[in-house]
Amino acid sequence: MNIAILPGDGIGPEIVAEAVKVLNALGETFNLETALVGGAAYEAHGHPLPESTLKLAQQSDAVLFGAVGDWKYDTLERALRPEQAILGLRKHLALFANFRPAICYEQLTNASSLKPELVAGLDILIIRELNGDIYFGQPRGRRKSPDGLFPGADEAFDTMRYSEPEIRRIAHVAFQAARKRDRRLTSVDKANVLETSQFWRDVVVEVSKEYSDVVLDHMYVDNAAMQLVRAPKKFDVVVTGNMFGDILSDEAAMLTGSIGMLPSASLDANNKGLYEPSHGSAPDIAGQGVANPLATILSAAMMLRFSLGKVEQANRIEAAVKKVLSQGLRTADIYEAGTKKVGTQEMGAAVLAAL
Ligand code: IPM
Ligand code: MG
Repeated sequence: MNIAILPGDGIGPEIVAEAVKVLNALGETFNLETALVGGAAYEAHGHPLPESTLKLAQQSDAVLFGAVGDWKYDTLERALRPEQAILGLRKHLALFANFRPAICYEQLTNASSLKPELVAGLDILIIRELNGDIYFGQPRGRRKSPDGLFPGADEAFDTMRYSEPEIRRIAHVAFQAARKRDRRLTSVDKANVLETSQFWRDVVVEVSKEYSDVVLDHMYVDNAAMQLVRAPKKFDVVVTGNMFGDILSDEAAMLTGSIGMLPSASLDANNKGLYEPSHGSAPDIAGQGVANPLATILSAAMMLRFSLGKVEQANRIEAAVKKVLSQGLRTADIYEAGTKKVGTQEMGAAVLAAL
């Protein structure tokens, strides 16, 4: 099994290094190959997603990705910014189904900014469509306004659009995921305002006829944002478009206390996938050895489960992570009085020992 390792920028290399140690400790024969991506690739090759990196990702069975981005690239033209690497990988690998679980570990209930009773036992799954919507919709650009309130003025525009097959395939993914859980699916849209959203809703309703065992409901995105902090445990699986999913998944992540704990998977139609922590490159703490490697280690577990068919090994890693939390080990982001603060490498070593 060939795994592409793309550490990226900021804390990416530190956290990915710990996940690689875990993969190497499983007693499997993985062929791991590392390549530059994001700002690191821009520095070396003048592009955040060089041809060689894309090729490696395309030829691999799965991709383990760290994080990309740094403030120092904020002034680059958009096409060369580190974020384009992740957007390009999503597009070129046709990774349309993004799984973002938000799980509140028992030991971390107090780390949430919400009252413990609201988040204790939280286990929800956000499924975000990742190849369409206003993120990729054409046309987009800048021009002189041809109409509207200020004709002739400079304006910028993006296009929110979804085709029927795009909605249909993510709806199937979501219903099937709900089937493996509590069989409840909430589809989030803005159908009271947007044509795209009304169409999204119509197609999801159509697909739901094939899943009579799953209870479907619909929620406007503003209400969903509110319900997520009011009563998050009422959700099971949430399915939504690219833009709303970006926002809601960050909100859901924070319910769990630390975005440093949450893995994610981005899958194509054949369960090939890219696995990355839900958090970013955290340039403010890069190189200090204090970042939490658990989201990346848990992403490696998701990779084993979804793309490599190694469910047992995935379970082992997840159990090891729970064990180190029970032992009271905490990186700075999840530290609280009475626990033991450890660095990135110490946390990785503890997971290895628990394995
Ligand atoms: C995410 C990130 C990306 C996105 C950025 C880095 C392009 O916020 O994965 O959620 O907006 O999708
Ligand atoms: Mg985001």
